Amino acid sequence: MTASDIRQKYLDFFSARGHALLPSASLLPENDSTLLFTNSGMFPLVSYLAGAPHPAGKRLCNSQKCFRSEDIDEVGDHRHNTFFEMLGNWSLGNYFKEEQLNWWFDFLVSELGLDPQRLYQTVYVGSADGKIPRDEESIKALQSIFTRLGVGAEVGPDTLGLGEEGPGLDLDFSNQRIFAYRDKNFWRRGDAVGELGGPDSETFYDTGRAHDPAFGPFCHPNCDCGRFLEIGNSVFMQYRQTETGWEELVHKNVDFGGGLERLAMVVGQKESIFETTLFSKLIAKIADLSGVNFKADDNERAFEIIADHIKAATFIVGDDQGVAPSNTDQGYIVRRLLRRAMRYGRQLNINNDDWLSSLAQVVIADYAGVYPELARNQEFIKESFSQEEKKFKRTLEKGLIEFNKIKTQEISGAEAFNLYQSYGFPLEITEELARERGLTVDRIGFEQEFVKHQELSRTASAGKFKGGLADSSVATTRLHTAAHLLLEALRRVLGAEVFQKGSNITAERLRFDFSYDKKMSPEELAEVEKIVNQVIGQELPVAYSEMSLSEAREAGAMGVFDSKYDDRVRVYEVTGFSKEICGGPHVSNTKELGHFRIIKEESSSAGVRRIKAILE
Ligand code: ALA
Repeated sequence: MTASDIRQKYLDFFSARGHALLPSASLLPENDSTLLFTNSGMFPLVSYLAGAPHPAGKRLCNSQKCFRSEDIDEVGDHRHNTFFEMLGNWSLGNYFKEEQLNWWFDFLVSELGLDPQRLYQTVYVGSADGKIPRDEESIKALQSIFTRLGVGAEVGPDTLGLGEEGPGLDLDFSNQRIFAYRDKNFWRRGDAVGELGGPDSETFYDTGRAHDPAFGPFCHPNCDCGRFLEIGNSVFMQYRQTETGWEELVHKNVDFGGGLERLAMVVGQKESIFETTLFSKLIAKIADLSGVNFKADDNERAFEIIADHIKAATFIVGDDQGVAPSNTDQGYIVRRLLRRAMRYGRQLNINNDDWLSSLAQVVIADYAGVYPELARNQEFIKESFSQEEKKFKRTLEKGLIEFNKIKTQEISGAEAFNLYQSYGFPLEITEELARERGLTVDRIGFEQEFVKHQELSRTASAGKFKGGLADSSVATTRLHTAAHLLLEALRRVLGAEVFQKGSNITAERLRFDFSYDKKMSPEELAEVEKIVNQVIGQELPVAYSEMSLSEAREAGAMGVFDSKYDDRVRVYEVTGFSKEICGGPHVSNTKELGHFRIIKEESSSAGVRRIKAILE
């Protein structure tokens, strides 16, 4: 069964059950300033899920082009992509849990032939304040489904993922098949008043791999060790956020999404999504261009990164709203994808002229039947890829020589800026090279250089200044402001002994290191998120003033009071909330941030914790 067969079977299955088939929406959302790319099937449907009647009816399905730049660092682990297709079906106040779960399992087992013994399901354990109940309806439906399929149908302990599980918990995966979690199983787009959300129920496939104890004492479906792979998510969108909390909707919706690449991987019993038919021609072409083998000599990661990035860039440029590589917003992401692919291409000794474009041709040939816009925009793709290749080819080699001359442990802002300005290295590439050699990059110094350069050259208009970060993107600037809010929120929740220990901000996510010596509890994380989102909701102005270092100290600004800074410094203030010495730039009002979400909290080094967070 090819991946195309799976896509077709899914769409046929739901069409046969009364679902209208919708075309994929654009990958570049219009009129949604909070989001650079469509990242799930429900985003183009929000207003209908909120109650507006959809012209095609109450049952919908499609295969949606999605891009998640926050997963870019994960690509290469055999199971992550930046671009993927999300198979989706929706009930707009029509059917609900029982039908959804039964259909989905029928599809997996009867249509795709998956072994039910390998399928596990998670459900919502209920809210901590008791206002939203444990999802008994789904549990009941799932127990009868698993019993019908002849496999164990017991519910595992409710304490999973709540920080109460204790070290010795021994799960019985032959009988326990349904596991309840809290935060992992309540899906919502955001917390603002009017947002929709609800309990969700995720399906996991047991790859049969042994548990890796580096990820914790025992394995469970949401363990990150790689044994369990999430292949689908049924969201029961039955609540709306109000001033006083989540309130039940009159219309109870289903929002289902499942990644085609992962389904193809488990159906084909593959170790990697890059071994499926969605990638086979692309991988073969990379082998052809490089003369080396996908599976030999540690080449897999480079192959996967090139294949993923070329496919993603082809879809972004080849969208009807497509953009060419540039230094701003979506165009900057395309630039990063293509330049990073070139860097890995060099590692595999790919030298052919126009090789980026020759790989794009493979993607177009593979997908134009389903996404005809790729054929429509073929010339634009070809031209954009060729130009970008020519531009970066000239300087990549020289920039690497320049990089190798750096002998210090920390790459200074001026050095990183030189690599950016003279050799076209996106800051993230410099950072990646630095990581590989155990070095660090002074990102703040880079930002200061960037701002200085902009001011000197006077090319930046006042409006551009706002977006003038490392990569000039608005997305990065927003996350930079969010990092200030995060620090202050952490100090309010955990105490004044919390200080910033480092940060790394890209257009997709922020990474923030801070002094604290314990794992944060789910309640503390939720409280920090809440404070940040409240400040966003309060629409506070952000502004800076210039003063001397001692004045900044007296004003109570956070920051590093050492010689790294000039006598005169900038202090950015989120009015009434936080003050920090910083080179900027920042957004001018917290309302520009959208919704803040912490995606990970982990140890960074002794006494230092690390938070990864995104704006959505
Ligand atoms: N909207 C849900 C998700 O993205 C299906 O997981």
